Amino acid sequence: MPKRRSSIAKSPTSKKRKEIRVWADGCYDMVHYGHANSLRQGKALGDYLVVGVHSDEDIMKNKGPPVYTEQERYRIVRAIKWVDEVVEASPYLPTPENTLDKHNCDFCIHGADISTTPDGTDTYGAQKAAGRYREIERTQGVSTTDLVGRMLLMTKQHHSKEGDISKINSSQLIEIGQGPCARSPYTGVTHFSTSNRIQQFSNGKVPAPGDRVVYTAGAFDLCHIGHVDFLEKAREQGDFLVVGILTDLEVNRYKGSNHPIMNLQERALSLLALKYVSEVVIGAPYSVTDELLEYFKVDVVVHGNSEIIPDVNGKDPYEVPKKRGIFKCVSSGSKVTTSSIIDRIIENRLKFSSRNTVKQEKEIREIQEAHSSSGNTND
Ligand code: CTP
Ligand code: C5P
Repeated sequence: MPKRRSSIAKSPTSKKRKEIRVWADGCYDMVHYGHANSLRQGKALGDYLVVGVHSDEDIMKNKGPPVYTEQERYRIVRAIKWVDEVVEASPYLPTPENTLDKHNCDFCIHGADISTTPDGTDTYGAQKAAGRYREIERTQGVSTTDLVGRMLLMTKQHHSKEGDISKINSSQLIEIGQGPCARSPYTGVTHFSTSNRIQQFSNGKVPAPGDRVVYTAGAFDLCHIGHVDFLEKAREQGDFLVVGILTDLEVNRYKGSNHPIMNLQERALSLLALKYVSEVVIGAPYSVTDELLEYFKVDVVVHGNSEIIPDVNGKDPYEVPKKRGIFKCVSSGSKVTTSSIIDRIIENRLKFSSRNTVKQEKEIREIQEAHSSSGNTND
């Protein structure tokens, strides 16, 4: 049946507002919620968000080795719910011509951190001069450098089954207690997560009538490509995906050492930033209970590639959904795990360590220069 025309005729003078296209770029290494928060702010400034992600070769030349490969970084940035388009191997030295004009964007965004080219000039100087730059609030308490710093503390010794935080030696404790990587050896719970931030990241939606609700639970530490691939598959099992995030204590119970690398609140934000995740349970029970299944009206419980580790009482954590006949294993098709990411760091400890030192020294030098050029000599 043909659709009825609206009786309100459009005025010949009414114009459709021009779509505002926003550009963001960066390495997005170990894609974290600080990146996601910058992209959230970028999207809010316009209608369409294009994200340029640098290649491995460019990052290697300019900063040292990235932890995540370019294919992983492209895929994870694409999975962030505020991103409309990803430009692969985007120029490391962006100009208005090679990024904004080329991709028809109005302006670029960047956090309020210092960004300079190797010759010390402002990376976004030309964009600023052309009025095509908007500054967004940098998210405090997280950066790739900081995450690498947390993982550098994890020697092979800490990967042993019996490992616990009491096995961290005194020199490592000194490392933990100083500098920009300073944090608790346990989970690094040194940051604040506000209800406002959680709200900004949330979808604010409940399942629609008839929606098939999928539940999964896990550590989701570092939110890597294995998780993103798994969550996409999990979401395909229904319409509304609820992800239960295990507490820091629970993850530490079965993983030992100084796991998890990211604390509960950080893991929650990383998950909420992904387009496949509808809702999270911050601090889910290790074993799936009848109460949880009824509360969320769960239709199917899924688990991925990894081994199912028994609960403290020795029982299968999926006993209840298995009895109800609603348990399913889905394959993510990815072999990447949090431990394999940590192995990348440990195997290249020296390279990552020097990358972190160079980055931190550069930041301190630039902050001091900015401070002295502003005439402040008090400290
Ligand atoms: N960003 C942010 N908040 C953070 C980290 C990054 O807003 N905590 C923003 C940066 O300001 C930039 C974008 O995310 O606009 C991409 O940052 P990237 O180039 O990947 O740098 P960092 O995450 O800061 O990583 P590194 O520590 O290696 O510099
Ligand atoms: O190990 P973690 O608890 O973070 O895993 C969360 C979920 O992601 C689990 O269901 C796990 O099996 C799944 N996963 C996967 N493929 C990977 C890594 C994790 O299916 N490569």
